[in-house]
Amino acid sequence: METNTKVVEYHLEASAFRWQISSDKIIEAWGFNKQVPGPELRANVGDTVVVKLTNNLHEPTTIHWHGIRLAAGMDGTDAVQKPISPGETFEYRFVVPDAGTFWYHSHANETVQMERGMYGALIVEDPTEEIITDAERVFIIDDMKVDAKGVFTKPRWFIPRVVERHDGRQGDTLLINGKENPIIQMFAGHRERWRFINASSARYFVLDLGGREFSIVGTDGGLLESPRPVTSQLITPGERFDIIVGPFEEGEVFTMDSLPYNRMTFLKAKRENFATIHVGPSAPSVAHVPHTLRAITQLAESHAEINRRVVLSVGPSLKDGMDFLINGSAHVNDKPVKVGELQVWEVVNASLMDHPFHLHGFFFQVVEENGLKPAFTAWKDTINLKPRSKVRIAWMPDNRPGTWMYHCHILEHHEAGMMANFEVVADDMPIREIKAHTHKHHH
Ligand code: C2O
Ligand code: CU
Repeated sequence: METNTKVVEYHLEASAFRWQISSDKIIEAWGFNKQVPGPELRANVGDTVVVKLTNNLHEPTTIHWHGIRLAAGMDGTDAVQKPISPGETFEYRFVVPDAGTFWYHSHANETVQMERGMYGALIVEDPTEEIITDAERVFIIDDMKVDAKGVFTKPRWFIPRVVERHDGRQGDTLLINGKENPIIQMFAGHRERWRFINASSARYFVLDLGGREFSIVGTDGGLLESPRPVTSQLITPGERFDIIVGPFEEGEVFTMDSLPYNRMTFLKAKRENFATIHVGPSAPSVAHVPHTLRAITQLAESHAEINRRVVLSVGPSLKDGMDFLINGSAHVNDKPVKVGELQVWEVVNASLMDHPFHLHGFFFQVVEENGLKPAFTAWKDTINLKPRSKVRIAWMPDNRPGTWMYHCHILEHHEAGMMANFEVVADDMPIREIKAHTHKHHH
């Protein structure tokens, strides 16, 4: 068989190490190759990516390749893989079929492992793409809940514990690429592409560049159809946005902030500073951003008939103060879907707080939002739902049968039960057999 795909190989080591986040703060991080974020992985569209992961932590781990349309067995969830024990090595191998800003992160004990830094970027480039910029940067947003000495803090008493479970863990130590308030130097006159990834547990990041306009050119599943000029953009946990910034003038100094966003938590929303941009001397620009980036075919009409409802809710619980549910239950096994059968799901947020809904392994299009057709078409894998809101999403299960999942990307909500596994089944597979296999709590 003739194939011209290149193999791109990486070796990642998961371990605990000390990581300097600012001149006076060192944390006990967990991460990949002793850095936070882990190494930036890059490949071209169509390449085969091979990642050997050696686990040198004291507990099992896995990696989930967030946004990559890979085979189910490589998805990194405990439904498809035995977590990698300390001392063991596992080889992930998959083709990257789409260009875009993706990321990898631990999918085991996430509220601890991701909190401590187990994440990194996976950038898939398309050499034929027409956007040309003067520079490209990846910004991974995170926050940590550490004390003045850099020690991770956990709520000890019932009420603070309930608050953290309700709100998700949100810390005051704000990080861009593992550093507190970094300074970003750029040339005057340049236009750059900035790829944002929100790797935090629960922070709703509303990107603001001192009120300056920027253009969104891509999101979770790659480019939009055309650039969208905005002055701020909400990026919820799990989401990605590619933007074009500049040109700026020599001597300009401004901050990269997150604007207040009220996601109905106990925590009060406020404006917070993540980084500072210094614009230096001017340099010639070669940037070119076309008006048409690509065409995206609409998967379904906005009123297309629904074949599933997924209801996210939060209910009181005696044990933990709060339960986070899918269709009324915690940690759900949802019905299977068939390869090739268009899925139109209504995802409903029946609770009084926001949730970022994430589907593993497949991109969807939001075809309706609270009864309205969205202003533009995009490929997404994570979408925020405001309190008491609903979206209709359309997605196509292509021929990658196996166990997949969806969940709220606020890690504490996912852990508390706002998640479901489901099977994608090939047409000729007997559904009942597969279902019996996935009901692991059934005796
Ligand atoms: Cu980035 Cu299961 O998620
Ligand atoms: Cu949630």
